[in-house]
Amino acid sequence: MSTIQITINGTSQSLDVPPMKRLLDVLREDAHLTGTKEGCGEGECGACAVLMNGELVNSCLVPALHADGASVCTIEGVAPSAAAEGEPAHLHPIQQCFFENGGAQCGICTPGMILATHHLLDKYPNPTLEQIKEGLAGNLCRCTGYMRIFESVQKAAQALTTIST
Ligand code: FES
Ligand code: FES
Repeated sequence: MSTIQITINGTSQSLDVPPMKRLLDVLREDAHLTGTKEGCGEGECGACAVLMNGELVNSCLVPALHADGASVCTIEGVAPSAAAEGEPAHLHPIQQCFFENGGAQCGICTPGMILATHHLLDKYPNPTLEQIKEGLAGNLCRCTGYMRIFESVQKAAQALTTIST
């Protein structure tokens, strides 16, 4: 066992884990954050994507020891902080646009898609279709045929640009 210090969605945690345990499993089993999904388990599908120190990574390929000292954002950390008790939680504009535009169907790929979109729009606030396709190239979806996902990203870009102006 190794003790790793990891900041997940803004909260610093000290976890005792096997050094080669996958970050994906650390998140799901030790941090009890099951929003991050496992698809292929081999770095091919992006279902397990999270942001680590601001970079998009496939958490199934990251050993726990490599995440020591890192700051990780998962799908649970994307939405604005929890609403006051009794009030409905708010979705992040990217989540809202996926919801409204059919960008999510079965939902397995969706957390990774949302994180990849977050990363993309940080870099390109008004992305071209080519930039969207490239930004999401590492994320596979078996349900939507991708067009609705691309449209959701375009709507999210518009919504975020409106908010920031
Ligand atoms: S589960 Fe990690 S890339 Fe597919
Ligand atoms: S919505 Fe089912 S895999 Fe993408």
